Amino acid sequence: MNALDIFRKSHLALNLTPFTIRELFNIPTTPCDVFIFEDGKFKHSLYRGTYVANDTLKEMIERGHTIVFASNEQREELKELQQNTLRQVTRSFSMGDTYQNCKNQLNLITINLRYLFEDPTDDNALNLQYQSLKVLANFLIKNPKMHEPLYRYYAAQGHHYIFAQPLLSSIFLVGILKTSQLYNDKDIENFFITSYFKDIGMSAIPIDKFDKENLSEMDKVLLAKHPIISARILQGRIQLSPAHMKVIENHHTFSIIDKYDTDNQHIKNLTVTGFETLMVNVCDIVAAMISTRPYREALSIFEALEKIRSHIGSEYPHEFKIIINYFRNFFTTSVR
Ligand SMILES: [Fe+2]
Repeated sequence: MNALDIFRKSHLALNLTPFTIRELFNIPTTPCDVFIFEDGKFKHSLYRGTYVANDTLKEMIERGHTIVFASNEQREELKELQQNTLRQVTRSFSMGDTYQNCKNQLNLITINLRYLFEDPTDDNALNLQYQSLKVLANFLIKNPKMHEPLYRYYAAQGHHYIFAQPLLSSIFLVGILKTSQLYNDKDIENFFITSYFKDIGMSAIPIDKFDKENLSEMDKVLLAKHPIISARILQGRIQLSPAHMKVIENHHTFSIIDKYDTDNQHIKNLTVTGFETLMVNVCDIVAAMISTRPYREALSIFEALEKIRSHIGSEYPHEFKIIINYFRNFFTTSVR
């Protein structure tokens, strides 16, 4: 290898940015030259401006290339394309097959959440997410029968769990608040959005670290503080009331992870701020427990509900009854 070759290779490596291959699914033509990293070097794999079949992408995943690379500028073009598609799907959501529109929107919202994690200060991505979630919430509120098939469809999509978890848990929340008959549609919409954004503070930790069971001590502290970080990120940027922000700050009241206040002091005996916080928390725990993680298998819904019973069963019998009835109905069709 001569000096020019070495320069070309290092120049390429410096200009490339990694991203998930999932961003390339369902787009007409790829707006970027896509590289894979194989045998210690970058290889040009897909060409800008060409149609890429989903099967080709699936083959690449099977060969271990879930992360691919493109130049910074071209990755930006891909991002713009995905965000414009989300904008379009959201705007024309009620036209045509709304169930299909919803499925498309779920995937696009998830991709946009990744962009938001990459830069939580990006107002554009945040507003797009907020507007899209409002339309999605409306659809879910009006179509409770669609929740189960949508949940199954979406859970099978293979999104990284950090980006899938907010939607999975928030679909449950809409159903549970609706069956409780305590809230009007606007209330449910706001709690759906609250629940969805509650973990945006996790963006303080690099995504690949979530695939390991043992986070560093520093990451554990950041993780424990993520409800507070989420509230800070969202403060004054989306239309959620201080009460909703409180729900975000307290959304791990029943969880096993430690809680810290803004001065990094342990908070003892944190009390529940209400029925909504409890439900946001429970839906989050159940959705997480019945999903697979890179370091553990999924639990059954029965095991998950047993855990919930041991946490809150005796202290909140009425709420626990609502939870049990809701999940029993939800999974009736799938329990063997
Ligand atoms: Fe959380």
